[in-house]
Amino acid sequence: MNSVETNEKTQIENENKQPCETGNNCIIEVKNLTKLFQKKVVLDKINLSIEKGKTTVIIGPSGCGKTVLLKHLIVLLRPSEGEVYFNHKRIDNLKEKSLNKIRTHYGFLFQGGALFDSLSVRDNIIFPISQHYKISDWKQADELVKNKLAMVGLDGYQNYYPANLSGGQRKRVALARAIALNPEVILYDEPTTGLDPIRSDVINEIILKLQRELNITSIVVTHDMTSAYKVADRIIMLHNGKIVADGNADYIRNHPHPIVQQFINGQVDDDDLALLRMKGTISQAQFLPRDFEQ
Ligand SMILES: Nc1ncnc2c1ncn2[C@@H]1O[C@H](COP(=O)(O)OP(=O)(O)OP(=O)(O)O)[C@@H](O)[C@H]1O
Ligand SMILES: [Mg+2]
Repeated sequence: MNSVETNEKTQIENENKQPCETGNNCIIEVKNLTKLFQKKVVLDKINLSIEKGKTTVIIGPSGCGKTVLLKHLIVLLRPSEGEVYFNHKRIDNLKEKSLNKIRTHYGFLFQGGALFDSLSVRDNIIFPISQHYKISDWKQADELVKNKLAMVGLDGYQNYYPANLSGGQRKRVALARAIALNPEVILYDEPTTGLDPIRSDVINEIILKLQRELNITSIVVTHDMTSAYKVADRIIMLHNGKIVADGNADYIRNHPHPIVQQFINGQVDDDDLALLRMKGTISQAQFLPRDFEQ
């Protein structure tokens, strides 16, 4: 091991543990997290503590920074300002090599849930394991794949390729892959988007089962309020880079702020509605093929 690695390892192991807003049961914390992209503020001094074993749902309009926030939790993006902690240790300033170690504690289901099309279901699930460990016992690896697929109700699909699976099955395989390394935390970015209500509910049930049986901490970004109310111990709403509401499902359902009510009820705000209802806006925007002829 070279001296840079040794220093960094020592730094991680010896770093003083940080107190956390939610006490010792806190697994993730962000402090004053600010993110700018070309001077545009996407996250604005966010403070957040995530309790171990709980499911936290993040809601908010498209483009408000939900995915950007999720990526900061595993430092796929680095903060412009502020800090990120995992198990009371600061991680946003670590080098990639140390971060990769930290990331083995996480499973993530990215927006779109991309599987590798050229790999079978089995090899998709083995992939994250082979990234971190040298597999010598393939029988054990196959046992693990079987076990993870059983968790999502898809044991028997080992030799299928993603192209031969439905959208719901692909999400479940992506979830089996996300739990391959027995993570303590799973980050879900819109796990039910594009699924019908029944397949969405299968995903909800899996999120609940992982919490119940493995005490996994989940952070779920979603637009799907049925899913949010079903799985959440806590719901956080982001708007204009800030947390505007934070509480359990009942608290959010009855939140007095019009922005929260508009979002959870799927209502367009009055200004946008006036614009949409302006006469002539659609006919003016339509073109016929002859409009393009010379
Ligand atoms: N790498 C990047 N470079 C520049 N701007 C970015 C980058 N990633 C995200 N953004 C911008 O940050 C803002 C928040 O993006 P983000 O993807 O977090 O939105 P979101 O809340 O997840 O939206 P959606 O619900 O549509 O997924 C957007 O304006 C986006 O264009
Ligand atoms: Mg997103």
